Amino acid sequence: MLDVDLADELAELVGQLRGQLLRHHAAGTWAAPGGATARPAVDPEHPTAQADLGTGSGFTGTASIAALDAPVEPIEDTGAVRTPLGRRSLPQVRAELGECTRCKLSGTRKSIVFGVGAEDAPLMFVGEAPGEQEDKRGEPFVGPAGELLDKMIIAMGWSRQSVYINNIICCRPPGNRNPQPDEVAACKPFLEARITAIAPRIIVALGRPAANTLLGTDAPISALRGKFHDRNGIKVMPTFHPAYLLREPDRKRDAWADLKLVMAELARLGIQAPGTPRA
Ligand code: URA
Repeated sequence: MLDVDLADELAELVGQLRGQLLRHHAAGTWAAPGGATARPAVDPEHPTAQADLGTGSGFTGTASIAALDAPVEPIEDTGAVRTPLGRRSLPQVRAELGECTRCKLSGTRKSIVFGVGAEDAPLMFVGEAPGEQEDKRGEPFVGPAGELLDKMIIAMGWSRQSVYINNIICCRPPGNRNPQPDEVAACKPFLEARITAIAPRIIVALGRPAANTLLGTDAPISALRGKFHDRNGIKVMPTFHPAYLLREPDRKRDAWADLKLVMAELARLGIQAPGTPRA
C-alpha cells in the first residue's frame, strides 16, 4: 500500500520548490548558482522521460536541484512509475484512488467524481463536492451550478476542456450536506496530488469550503475573495460558489470582478486564453 501521507508531504515540497522557481522566473532570475543542471517538470504523460532543456527553454542557467536528478522509482502497488518527489501524472493519481473506500461516502455514492479538463491546465477551479447530477454522471459541475460555471469560464475566454475542474472531495455527501472534516481529510491527499500533477498557475476556489481547504483558514468567503492568496507559489483566488450566485444573482458582479483579476494575472504571466474573453 502506498504511503499517501509521505507522497502528500513530498508533493507539497515539490510545490514549494516550484513556487520558488516561479518567483525567480517572474523576477527574471532563472540562473541559480552552481550545482547540477536542472530539468524542467516531468511531462505527466511521460514521467520517466529525460527532458532536454535546450536553449529555448527560458532556463539559461544552472541550478542545484539534486532531488530532481534522483532516479525514478516504481510504485509497489500499481507498478506505475513516479518521480522522486512524489509527482505523479493525473492517470496515476486516479489509479491510486481506485474504488476508494477511505471514507463513509463510499457507502452512498454512485460515482467517484475525480475531475475534468486539461492535464496541463494553467487555470484550475475547485468546488466543494459533487451533487446529484455529478454523482449520476461521474463528472464535476454538470448540474445547474455547473451550467453557470461553464458560462463564467467561457466569458473568461476558456472552456471546460482547457481548464481543470474538480472538487475538494470526490464523492457526493448524502442529501448534498456539507462535507465533514474526516471526509475532506480523506480526500485531501488526492486534491493535493491533482494540483501537483497539473501544476496550475492560478486556482479559483469556489466558495468557502474550497477556499478554507486550500488556504488552511476558516475565514468567510467575503473576507477572502477579491484578492490573490499564495499557496506554495500558486495563486489562489477565492470567489463565490456558482450555486450561491444562482440564489444571489446580485453577487455575480463581485464574482466577475474576481474573475477579471484572474484574467489580468494570467495575461501578466503571459498565458493567453484560448478564446476571446468578454471585456
Ligand atoms: N457543486 C460543487 O461544488 N461541485 C460540483 O461538482 C457540483 C456542484
